[in-house]
Amino acid sequence: MAFSLIVGVTVLSYLFALFQVRAEKRGLRKELTNRAEILAESLEGNVEPLLGKGSHRRLRTYVTEFAKREPATGIAIFDRAGNGVAKTPGLEIYLEGQQGTVSQVISSNLSFSGFTTLNGKPTHLHVLPLHDESGVAGALAIFHDASFINAQAARLWRDTFLRVLAQAAFIALVTLLIIRWSIVGPIARTARWVRELRVGKRGERSGLEDEDLFKPLAQEVTHLAKSLEAARAAAEEEARLRESADSLWTPERLRLHVRSKLGGRPFFVVSNREPYMHVYRGKVVEVTVPASGLVTALEPILRTCQGTWLAHGSGDADRESVDERDCLRVPPDDPQYTLKRVWLTKEEEEGYYFGFANEGLWPLCHIAHTRPIFRARDWKYYQAVNQKFAQALVEEMEGVEEPVVLVQDYHFALLPRLVKEKLPHARVAIFWHIPWPNPEAFSICPWQRDLLDGLLGADLVGFHLQSHCNNFLETVDRTLESRVNWERFSVERGGHLTEVRPFPISVASGDTGELEGSLPSSPYLDRAALLKDHGVEATFMGIGVDRVDYTKGILERFHGIERFMEKYPAYHGQFTFVQIGAPSRAHIKRYHDLLGEVEAEADRINWRFQTAHWKPIVYLNRHHNHQEIRRYYRAADLCLVTSLHDGMNLVAKEFVAARDDDQGVLILSQFTGASSELRDAVLVNPYDTEQLADALYYSLGMDPVDRSARMHRMRKVVKEFNIYRWAAELVTELCEIRLETHAEVT
Ligand code: G6P
Repeated sequence: MAFSLIVGVTVLSYLFALFQVRAEKRGLRKELTNRAEILAESLEGNVEPLLGKGSHRRLRTYVTEFAKREPATGIAIFDRAGNGVAKTPGLEIYLEGQQGTVSQVISSNLSFSGFTTLNGKPTHLHVLPLHDESGVAGALAIFHDASFINAQAARLWRDTFLRVLAQAAFIALVTLLIIRWSIVGPIARTARWVRELRVGKRGERSGLEDEDLFKPLAQEVTHLAKSLEAARAAAEEEARLRESADSLWTPERLRLHVRSKLGGRPFFVVSNREPYMHVYRGKVVEVTVPASGLVTALEPILRTCQGTWLAHGSGDADRESVDERDCLRVPPDDPQYTLKRVWLTKEEEEGYYFGFANEGLWPLCHIAHTRPIFRARDWKYYQAVNQKFAQALVEEMEGVEEPVVLVQDYHFALLPRLVKEKLPHARVAIFWHIPWPNPEAFSICPWQRDLLDGLLGADLVGFHLQSHCNNFLETVDRTLESRVNWERFSVERGGHLTEVRPFPISVASGDTGELEGSLPSSPYLDRAALLKDHGVEATFMGIGVDRVDYTKGILERFHGIERFMEKYPAYHGQFTFVQIGAPSRAHIKRYHDLLGEVEAEADRINWRFQTAHWKPIVYLNRHHNHQEIRRYYRAADLCLVTSLHDGMNLVAKEFVAARDDDQGVLILSQFTGASSELRDAVLVNPYDTEQLADALYYSLGMDPVDRSARMHRMRKVVKEFNIYRWAAELVTELCEIRLETHAEVT
């Protein structure tokens, strides 16, 4: 590169100098010609009278005088016949051979001006005719030595060439340096970084991203590196698992497993909440991932099989990022599957989501003593929106031979039947993320038959717990004409067989390494720092994380803390409970009121006990991201989960997953699905305020060895029964159902 730059620069300098010299020469020659013309004109007036009078002697004197004044210029005067009359001394030699030019001028009466070489020297010759009364009387020749032009041109050539060469060399040098700094440097750093990655070391940054020029490349290289790193980590994990014959499920294992199970069949997911939401932050559009374990679990599957996820487009900037089919590829920074957004009108959202799903089905299925509200209008919208999603799904599945569909939750009870009616060869499962109540409780729903019929359109219905499956089968048994098989846990209705199975949902894992990241190293120091942020000093800290929902028992929890303070005053000034409460469904009156009630209860209790630098409850009424929440989990002495009824409750599992130090106590409501797996939690009845207070006291004073052993055992459970296992078992079950068998049953 340097050589070509030097050659280029030299050629450029040469051409530039050549051009300059030619221009200069042209200028000098023109100037000399002008000078000769002017001189000729001025001499003409003096010489003509003398020639006319025949005063040859005076002419010679005149010429000799002139030669003294202008030594570089020679002149010669000729008579009518072209014979020399007077001339500058020493000019003879020049005159030879110029007779022709002189005779030409005399005979034509026209001046001559031109450059020639006389006596080996470049010379400018100007000849003009001289006149008397009778006409042309002779000629005057002026000789100018023009060799200075060549000398000046040569000097100029040299100077210009050297100057331009120096300038160009300087520019070339600067260019080389810039290239070195801005291209060679980053590329060398990147090469080093890629090499480190290749040999398994982890460099933080490629170094390319600092240069605007390389930003697009930097993004791609970073993705490539991340994929490489992820692939290596997955391979290492797989190898480790094989080595230890461990049965741990990882995203990679899930991918491979699902790929073989699906055997190339496309996979579709339907949920109300979308995995990626576009929202305006001022004028900027941001992508947010709703805090949901579902995305973690289902993404590896969708990525593997290039699947499609249908969901309600609820972000205010969602419409801006989709194509004409309302689709976009996600994850936005590494697109691997399709998100299809379904749009709902305000009325539809109001009736289907807020109304029927959340004011009807939610309290119907959660025994939390909030009365369900069933409005015929909401039911109509629920039906219409289920139809709308079914339509969108069927359109997406057009031409697909044997699609596999996983429907999520109580928002879509009617969807399985609607899809199967259109596409009998689709494999359809629905997973019900909330509890299923006993048949008496469910029977108050005016449309219970339609809901059950819709659900039984699925080939597989999943719940968290066996008890929810039992409740469901009993409800079907009592409500619909069907054959319930208690041996196989299936229902046969109208020639279609639906299997009913428990799949306890979970979190990523307790040992993924992803949890540590940039978290502070000491939970104890961090606890003080976290509390200090809220103006509190305390030795012990408890944590609660919930959507502000009446099923979560947040008020009951506060009452337990109040009682604890009454009963165990030694903890005044010592124990603070941090409640993270994410506002949820606040459009519904019950939820809206609850937000106020929770705030007011926290204030009331704090008012009773607080001191200048301490209070028993810190209530943080906003959404916190995973990273923020994990900090609290890891710094807390205990986590309090007091749901009045909960399908699973992933906060309990997240807390356990975050405690890789085997510390912290989980106080867990016996009415959560999680309590059947996490038997080492301190189990409580959240309605029993006294018991809650004692559980707090017991947990804070727990023997460290016991505490660590409990957490260790719970972590083992969460690690083994993680979200990847949940997804794998669900997909396996769905893929293994033999659709033909259903026909045989009829
Ligand atoms: C429960 C439901 C989910 C729902 C989540 C958050 O866990 O089972 O389907 O997504 O709550 O509620 P939201 O109404 O905000 O989606």
